[in-house]
Amino acid sequence: MLRTGGRLFHLPTRDSFPFFTKSRMQLVIQNLSKTYTGGVRALDNISMTIPTGMFGLLGPNGAGKSTLMRTLATLQNADSGSAMLGDLDILNDKKRVREMLGYLPQEFGVYPRTSATVLLTHLATLKGVGRSSAERREIVEGLLQRVNLFNVRGKSVANYSGGMRQRFGIAQALLGDPKLLIVDEPTAGLDPGERNRFYNLLSEVGESVVVILSTHIVEDVKELCTNMSIIHNGRLLFAGSPSQAEATLGGRIWAKSMSKEELRTCQVEMDVISSKLIEGRPVVHVYSEDDPGKGFEMVAPNLEDVFFSQIKRNIRAA
Ligand SMILES: Nc1ncnc2c1ncn2[C@@H]1O[C@H](COP(=O)(O)OP(=O)(O)OP(=O)(O)O)[C@@H](O)[C@H]1O
Ligand SMILES: [Mg+2]
Repeated sequence: MLRTGGRLFHLPTRDSFPFFTKSRMQLVIQNLSKTYTGGVRALDNISMTIPTGMFGLLGPNGAGKSTLMRTLATLQNADSGSAMLGDLDILNDKKRVREMLGYLPQEFGVYPRTSATVLLTHLATLKGVGRSSAERREIVEGLLQRVNLFNVRGKSVANYSGGMRQRFGIAQALLGDPKLLIVDEPTAGLDPGERNRFYNLLSEVGESVVVILSTHIVEDVKELCTNMSIIHNGRLLFAGSPSQAEATLGGRIWAKSMSKEELRTCQVEMDVISSKLIEGRPVVHVYSEDDPGKGFEMVAPNLEDVFFSQIKRNIRAA
């Protein structure tokens, strides 16, 4: 059986949710905190506003992304704070939230040896999607077409590739026409072709609903998301658009290709943001308010510079 947090829901009618008609619905998170038994503060007073469209939650391993997403998906409780989607109180009105939520967890349980059609129909039935079996079949086939699995709909989901499984995961998350779609690290393990297909699928969906995507892959955010945040150790380090993020470092990122030996010295003497091997030779990005000399050239900051420099600053501040 597919594990999606173990919660499946009844469908809302449009009339029962007047806020659906608001075109620019926002999710407003305020002062959300969560400390696990054992003392890890996974969410540390997080506040942010997430508008309709694709929102990227960017953070390294252990940042608190899944904790935040499971909380918004009503699968676990926060210690304090609030999250409102329009007039819907996400933390306290869980039943209504589940009626309009699509959730793709970071990890599924065991994939069943059942065809995509059978499994999706089963999930649709549990979720109360479709007023008759004929309507349900139409919805299921439409979704399988949308995620480009129609040609392999008769195959066992257990034998699907990673990318196909993720697309199946999106199909199940889209059952019932959710207004809030939460996808937790959906591109991990996908090859570039599958990742592109997945991007296209998500950005189509993101035109009309609030989509929150978590990732540690900077390109996911850069290519897909209109708005984003960076979190690390449960703290919100940045919220805004990717270009606003890049603008925060304008004129202060300097790059140089150097030997590995020079890199060792550089790491001691300068504020190294990142070093990447290009054709086996380190290309180093450093942060500096002024021209650091030594052959460094000013470059346009990229999102990766922002990501690494924010995390570095947060580690220093801890
Ligand atoms: N059930 C739990 N009990 C105790 N600690 C937990 C639990 N779940 C997560 N944590 C801790 O909370 C912190 C945040 O974890 P979380 O899974 O939210 O991070 P993440 O950003 O999703 O990481 P990843 O990119 O690895 O999925 C980590 O330090 C993690 O070890
Ligand atoms: Mg996670």
